[in-house]
Amino acid sequence: MSAEQRSHKLWGGRFSVPTAAALDALNRSIGIDYRLWPHDIRLSQAWAMALWGAGVLTLEESTSIETGLARVGDKLHGGAQPEPSDEDVHTMIDRMLHVEIGNVASKLHTGRSRNDQVATATRLWTIEIAGEVDKCIRVLQQVMIDQARAIEHDLMPAYTHLQRAQPVAGAHWMLSHFWPLERDRARIASVARSAAVLPLGSGAIAGSAYPISRVLLQGSLGFTSLSSNSIDAVGDRDFVAEMLFAVAMLGAHLSRLSEDLILYGSSEFGFVKFGEAFTTGSSMMPQKRNPDALELARGSGARTLGDLTSLLATLKGLPSGYNKDLQDDKRALFGAVDLMLLVLPAVAGTLAEITFDRARMKAALSSTMMATDLADYLVGKGSSFRDAHEAVGSLIREGERRGCELTELPLASFRDASTLFGEDVLEWLDPTRSVARREVPGGTGPDAVQAQIEEAISAIRPVRETPRGNQLAFQMV
Ligand code: ARG
Repeated sequence: MSAEQRSHKLWGGRFSVPTAAALDALNRSIGIDYRLWPHDIRLSQAWAMALWGAGVLTLEESTSIETGLARVGDKLHGGAQPEPSDEDVHTMIDRMLHVEIGNVASKLHTGRSRNDQVATATRLWTIEIAGEVDKCIRVLQQVMIDQARAIEHDLMPAYTHLQRAQPVAGAHWMLSHFWPLERDRARIASVARSAAVLPLGSGAIAGSAYPISRVLLQGSLGFTSLSSNSIDAVGDRDFVAEMLFAVAMLGAHLSRLSEDLILYGSSEFGFVKFGEAFTTGSSMMPQKRNPDALELARGSGARTLGDLTSLLATLKGLPSGYNKDLQDDKRALFGAVDLMLLVLPAVAGTLAEITFDRARMKAALSSTMMATDLADYLVGKGSSFRDAHEAVGSLIREGERRGCELTELPLASFRDASTLFGEDVLEWLDPTRSVARREVPGGTGPDAVQAQIEEAISAIRPVRETPRGNQLAFQMV
């Protein structure tokens, strides 16, 4: 028997010569899609039931396939590995099913194609992993809340153009990284909703010719609706693109957080100190402690972006229906999601171990950062904001000319800039006062920040599932 005859194929019949080894090597996707096996087994069991419902299989045949698939699942769970000849996960499971139950296994593929099969399995995987990503993001968000509380009332500069801009509460800066993650979670939840449209029953392209109940399939596999067009259903990878966008955005957010922390951890800023468990040393410079986890997180943002663009470029070039280019969707999808599942705990761990140098944060607050407050002061005395801006500008120039802080300028200099300045102006150069004036919702005032922390806490509180129907009855017993 030749190797070709021995290998288990779902499509050999019309070929008179074996597949070229070079094509086999390129075509084989088992190394990537192997992980879909739990979903492929689940959907195949549902399909066997559906075939019985449609009168294609007897009850015994359908039951034998279902239990056979369960045994295949047990073997895979126990670590069974694919054979080198397995083209993809679907072929592998089909082969293993034949080993379990013999020839009746050949009836399972009636009325379906790997086109609707792989689309369904990939959707099931995406729905499941969306929950995992959400959990990992929430862990990081909890660390952010804890750290925000640790520096709730400690002030630091906020930067625009990476230039010192205005004083803010430390918690305000910390939570500025929380809300982007909250939007990422919303996006990922929406990906799971997009993925919950069932393609099974679409066959290769035109829909299954057997009267299977797609509605029952939808219910048993936990999908929320049915695809409306079989041509669309087998080629639709919008949900993959959506997941890749959500993950690329998450990657960008983690990169920005990492960049802030890397900067703040440099001797030049000195606002934070990294814990030892999340830093590495240098093979040459004994003094070094490098924030590798954050640098790798920043670099990972580039990879997730690459995965998104590679999928979009693939989709852009395709005609309708299934095309083999789509096989590569999983490489991008799994690669990007796997990466984020590695990066998120490393960033959470790094952040949890960080300690803040409150004195350095405070020392970075220079009096010119209260320039806007001084302009507001003049507005309070009746000036227009434009005139006030001009007057404070000349005051800043005066400070620069003398090489001193605004707090060190004599009152005369203030009066030269505007006759509206009075003796109380010095109080307005206090950063605590600057922060306290900003109690607008979403501002950095102490009450606003406290409200923000509470809002953050309730945002990540897991939603209690409302018990329904039978569950409610069981609870009452
Ligand atoms: N391994 C394939 C994929 O991931 C399964 C679908 C194959 N379909 C086909 N017509 N050859 O896309």
